[in-house]
Amino acid sequence: MCFGVQLSGQANRLAAFVSKRAALVELGIGASVKSRLLLNALPRLGAYVPVDISESFLASAGAQIADAYCRLEVVPVPGDFTECLSFPRRIEEMERVAFFPGSTVGNLKDDEAAQLLARVRSWHGIRGFILGADLVKDEGLLLAAYDDAQGVTAAFNLNLLARLNGEADAEFDLDRFAHRAVWNARRSGLSRSSENLQSAPILRVIHAAPCFRGKVDDYPRFS
Ligand SMILES: C[S@@+](CC[C@H](N)C(=O)[O-])C[C@H]1O[C@@H](n2cnc3c(N)ncnc32)[C@H](O)[C@@H]1O
Repeated sequence: MCFGVQLSGQANRLAAFVSKRAALVELGIGASVKSRLLLNALPRLGAYVPVDISESFLASAGAQIADAYCRLEVVPVPGDFTECLSFPRRIEEMERVAFFPGSTVGNLKDDEAAQLLARVRSWHGIRGFILGADLVKDEGLLLAAYDDAQGVTAAFNLNLLARLNGEADAEFDLDRFAHRAVWNARRSGLSRSSENLQSAPILRVIHAAPCFRGKVDDYPRFS
């Protein structure tokens, strides 16, 4: 069952952990589908504080929430939740409950996740942490999801290379790459890669540095 479906059945129970007039701090707003499920069960919330690394996306998603919940104070906070976040003083002074649904925590390395939890725990006024975590699913099902027949994930990954070409002066020949999803049993996770077709090694796009400069051959490969 997907997290959204589970959350809709549990929203009232989770809402009991959030006191009236507290601030709900969501780490990574995404499509805000889960946010809305919880917000619907919190009519007396003090403030909704979505945090996201993408400032422009956050501004537009936050504005949509503010339109839909006109009595709710929405305070978007741009920032990287793996670093120290800076909140407006009035939010710092409120009771806060962190909301991190959808198993986004699974995208972090173990030490990053532990640091994030410790950091949130040190926030002034923190009263709770609603954390979503996925169960291990069937490998075949996950591979089919991340190597979908419509090629959506493949197009997403190759687009990263195209963006690196356009925005970081990289020189990837996109025709030389194909999408590959790999199940990592030890970490119970999937990595998505674009595989260089002409020379077997794989360039793991998801680990490409934002300051990327140069040609494919200048950069480390993972076999
Ligand atoms: C997979 S979505 C999940 C969003 C939503 N909470 C959900 O469960 O549907 C992840 C969101 O977190 C944001 N995000 C990813 N890494 C981040 C980081 N290090 N700091 C802040 N936001 C981040 C992305 O921009 C995206 O909006």
